[in-house]
Amino acid sequence: MPSLALFASGNGSNVQRIVEYFSGNPHIGIDLILTNNPRAYVLERARNLKIPSVVFSRKEFYGSNYVPDILAVQNISHIVLAGFLWLIPENILSAFQGKILNIHPALLPKYGGKGMYGTRVHQAVLASGDPESGITIHYVNEKYDDGQIIFQSRCPVIPGETPETLAEKIHQLEYRHFPEIIESVVKKSR
Ligand code: GAR
Repeated sequence: MPSLALFASGNGSNVQRIVEYFSGNPHIGIDLILTNNPRAYVLERARNLKIPSVVFSRKEFYGSNYVPDILAVQNISHIVLAGFLWLIPENILSAFQGKILNIHPALLPKYGGKGMYGTRVHQAVLASGDPESGITIHYVNEKYDDGQIIFQSRCPVIPGETPETLAEKIHQLEYRHFPEIIESVVKKSR
């Protein structure tokens, strides 16, 4: 049975939504939550959701097999990045080819790349005067926000929009689409 690990660096509201979506699903399990940030609120969510969690350091992530070893022991088949801010190292990419998904809060290839996450993305969209934004779900490769695009959904940027109002609209798009796209990708790549 496919078994998913969710990586997040902060709040983890997408993690919460994904776990709730798959709860009770007999075919796909959410079995591990991982973070680089020991103060991330996603850790409290993991406790409340009763899903095991792992915190790792930069050294463990980039200088050892600590994380891929844990993923192997737990029999994880797919990885979902839900607000995770670090590049994925080669030892994980090679073990999970075509099985790592990321969500980005804009319409890639615009507003992606190093340092483009969360509010910064929404600020860049507003500064550009772009009349629309949206979400992108894509496969993960060795670069930031660069892998093959799987799905996009758009929303208008209206006059008076702030980074906060845009973030809220984007989050609603993420909650609506991300779990279903994960489900369809995992079903196709078991
Ligand atoms: C989400 O909007 C996600 O798209 C974004 O971080 C937010 C995390 O929110 N990811 C990136 O910016 C990655 N470049 P959450 O922690 O409440 O799920």
